[in-house]
Amino acid sequence: MDSEKLGDVVYGYTASSNALEEQNTLLKENVDKLRNELDRYKKAPLMICEIREVYANKAVIKIPNGNQFLVEISSDCERLRAGDSVLVEQKNLVVIEKLAIQNNFEVEKFVIIDNPDVPWKQVGGLKKQIDEIREVVELPIKKPEMFRKAGIQPPKGILLHGEPGTGKTLLAKAVATSTNATFIEIVGSELVQKYIGEGAKLVKDIFQLARERAPSIVFIDELDALAAKRIDLGTSGEREVQRTFMQFLAEIDGFENLAGVKIIGCTNRKDMLDSAVVRPGRLERHIHIPVPTKEARKEIFKIHIKNMNLKDVDVQKVLSFMEDFTGADVRAVCTEAGYCAIRQSRTIIKTEDFMQAIIKLKEKEQQESEEHLQMFG
Ligand SMILES: Nc1ncnc2c1ncn2[C@@H]1O[C@H](COP(=O)(O)OP(=O)(O)OP(=O)(O)O)[C@@H](O)[C@H]1O
Ligand SMILES: [Mg+2]
Repeated sequence: MDSEKLGDVVYGYTASSNALEEQNTLLKENVDKLRNELDRYKKAPLMICEIREVYANKAVIKIPNGNQFLVEISSDCERLRAGDSVLVEQKNLVVIEKLAIQNNFEVEKFVIIDNPDVPWKQVGGLKKQIDEIREVVELPIKKPEMFRKAGIQPPKGILLHGEPGTGKTLLAKAVATSTNATFIEIVGSELVQKYIGEGAKLVKDIFQLARERAPSIVFIDELDALAAKRIDLGTSGEREVQRTFMQFLAEIDGFENLAGVKIIGCTNRKDMLDSAVVRPGRLERHIHIPVPTKEARKEIFKIHIKNMNLKDVDVQKVLSFMEDFTGADVRAVCTEAGYCAIRQSRTIIKTEDFMQAIIKLKEKEQQESEEHLQMFG
């Protein structure tokens, strides 16, 4: 073989050995990749749990079946708070990672979210109270810069207290209307009874939602069910309510005064409230909603008969039989008067319909108070 041919062979041999080596490297890389993938598939899946309490580097977690464990937190895990969702190793339950999205609990399914349509003129009487609410709820939402410039902090929340049916819920809806705010309604008793084990998390999510949807009003009816003074924390139920309540306080403290979120709490039992919830910095403005005066009752009556088909109704006479009636009573009388007419196949409502409605309502109240006496002595 001449040297030229030999060179060609050597060259050919080197070339093909290079190609093989290259192929070999590629295959090796592939094997590594597949091995890694295989390792990943062999790993046990992580469990999604909820943090109930956090201590230095340990936490109490609730696993999906409801059981709770005190476990370690991995050192590179973000700072955790009660209510967070986390990924947990199945075998030894170490908390590995905080979940950014909390999509395992949809707060919107649990609360009423609304954009109410109650203009101020739907509220009868209560002029002073309306002015006060506008000043502490409406103005900071509408003109936060005024407060910033003046250098004062408007209250984060108010407490409306008074007899049932005096217009507390109505006022809250009216201020949500005038500020164009998202109205997030929760009922204290439901929060502590219906969502057992979820109360604290729900409270956290509600405030998260309120911040996202600002301007917003978080309306808590029957606040006393959540925020009553508790002397005895004996049962687990009471501890649960306490935990929900503590989360509520923490959430109030956790947002800025001018963040566009306002809390309106309502109660018929102000005396029962824990002082922690009504102290300065929290629901600090307390507004009493009284039973209407004579003049206010007349205004309320006029609001409710506005769209009714009346004929020759003696308004003064009707009103004179409604002493001590609350706004809700007045409304009930109007609706019942309408029914009286309809029952007699009329669509025109007369004085006598109102009188019958008043008698019916008074009888009903009498009956209820007797039943109450029998039950409670
Ligand atoms: N001042 C008022 N002006 C006009 N309507 C009123 C007034 N007060 C009460 N009403 C009527 O009575 C209904 C019930 O009132 P509302 O629910 O606001 O009472 P409340 O004070 O929230 O009672 P509770 O303490 O039982 O929750 C209202 O939807 C409204 O129709
Ligand atoms: Mg109410």
